[in-house]
Amino acid sequence: DDLEKGTYPYYMLKEIDEQPAVLRKLLLKYQNEANQLTIDQKIVDSILESDRVYIVAAGTSYHAGLVGKELIEKMTHIPTEVHVSSEFGYNTPILSEKPFFIFLSQSGETADSRQVLVKTNALGYPSLTITNVPGSTLSRESTFTLLLHAGPEIAVASTKAYTAQIAVLAIFSEVVGIQKGLIKHGVMLRDIGIAANAIQSIVDDKESIEELASEYLSTSRNAFYIGRGMDYHVALEAALKLKEVSYIQTEGFAAGELKHGTIALIEEQTPVIALITEKSVAGHTRGNLQETKARGAHTLAISMEGLNRPEDQIVIPHVNPLLSSLAIVIPTQLLAYYCSLHRGNDVDKPRNLAKSVTVE
Ligand code: G6P
Repeated sequence: DDLEKGTYPYYMLKEIDEQPAVLRKLLLKYQNEANQLTIDQKIVDSILESDRVYIVAAGTSYHAGLVGKELIEKMTHIPTEVHVSSEFGYNTPILSEKPFFIFLSQSGETADSRQVLVKTNALGYPSLTITNVPGSTLSRESTFTLLLHAGPEIAVASTKAYTAQIAVLAIFSEVVGIQKGLIKHGVMLRDIGIAANAIQSIVDDKESIEELASEYLSTSRNAFYIGRGMDYHVALEAALKLKEVSYIQTEGFAAGELKHGTIALIEEQTPVIALITEKSVAGHTRGNLQETKARGAHTLAISMEGLNRPEDQIVIPHVNPLLSSLAIVIPTQLLAYYCSLHRGNDVDKPRNLAKSVTVE
């Protein structure tokens, strides 16, 4: 056990650090001899025959699915819905004529997701499981599988599986987009590589994030993450990560929605963390952050190079905006890790949580 951890105090930190290597490995695994990204043609054919994608997942994988929807819709123009697996079974949405199901699951064993797969199989619909575990239940029972190649994820709080899921969805979307004639020249091979470099530079500078964790989160009982568009999806994941390991009650909010109710919770020194990677909405998100500051919030801005302002506490390197989630999530993982560490929690095994939940 300890041997695998090497010099790391916890698996969570090791797995955060592994993310650049995981992305680079994925790029090798999904590349053909002509150095182009590729996936099994049967999967592409099946999705090209479908009229709508349904992503079904739980927890962190659900949050990766929210990002995946944007990637699939932008690159393939196939309408995509994302569903929490535990809700899908009894709150089944109206299905299109030719649905294609994508199950996102690090473990491939989540019972809530499996019960949906049992139903879609009974209805004869094609499905793709994107998982880290070859031979897992979801992988065996679905039509197709794409692997995350992230290596075992031991910490209960998922980090590298989230970024690997998004990268696989980006590769998948670009390959389908090219075959649909929507994309002339693929950029994901280059741009996921650039994202891997960006992640490397963020993890290399983790001490500065440790200091911010002490400054912002050491005594707080609650916290907020805000963002718009893609940053909103990451805000949900960032909030879940902080909750899971630090036990701080944290909410992720669409930045524009805060003023419609939740801003009532802002008190003197409440931490509010804004994620800013989207040019078209950056100004609005900054405005929302300012609104909380005016009410006493202890505000922290994490922005992407090119959109940064001098007052921003964390600035991540510029990446393709479609892949901004890969980079902007890293400081939030590190904030969660250090906050948990400083509070003396068992970082890898937070109370009440299991790595894989095999009951509904
Ligand atoms: C559990 C874990 C979460 C994980 C979720 C879904 O609740 O604690 O970290 O995101 O299951 O797991 P999966 O293996 O399906 O991605």
